[in-house]
Amino acid sequence: MTTVSPFHPAHGATTLASIVDGLARSPECWRALVEHEAGARRYAPIAIDGVEAWVISWAPGTGLALHDHGGADGALTVVEGSLLERHGSRQVPSVLQVRALDLGTTVVFDADHVHEVTNVGEVAAVSIHVYAPALDRMTFFADDPRDDVVVPAASTRGRS
Ligand SMILES: [Fe+2]
Repeated sequence: MTTVSPFHPAHGATTLASIVDGLARSPECWRALVEHEAGARRYAPIAIDGVEAWVISWAPGTGLALHDHGGADGALTVVEGSLLERHGSRQVPSVLQVRALDLGTTVVFDADHVHEVTNVGEVAAVSIHVYAPALDRMTFFADDPRDDVVVPAASTRGRS
């Protein structure tokens, strides 16, 4: 297994980007965890010290609705296919920008970040995600803030 530097809070997003890029270059850490299933988004944890890491397999048309990361900073990189991200601030989750996350794209974000991620392509996509501190809850944002839903992060895994 390839060794990547553990996250330290004082190092912030730069370290998370370095970790996720290191994982992307180390398919031996995650390739066997990729699970493509028609119509489904599949999550699997990657064993790594110091951060929480996931590999997510996205079938065409699957996505995860607008959410935050419960106070965690994070980074993600696309290692197969491409994704579309609508993103904004937790302070104003109704104002969003859109960006393509093409193959090889790495983005980092802080705890204020909210996003919706979707595979709008015609082929499956795979992304690697790291979070620090560990992701223990996520809030999903509705059109009406009174309908926002806070859920344990574990319950979102594998959800399309
Ligand atoms: Fe997310």
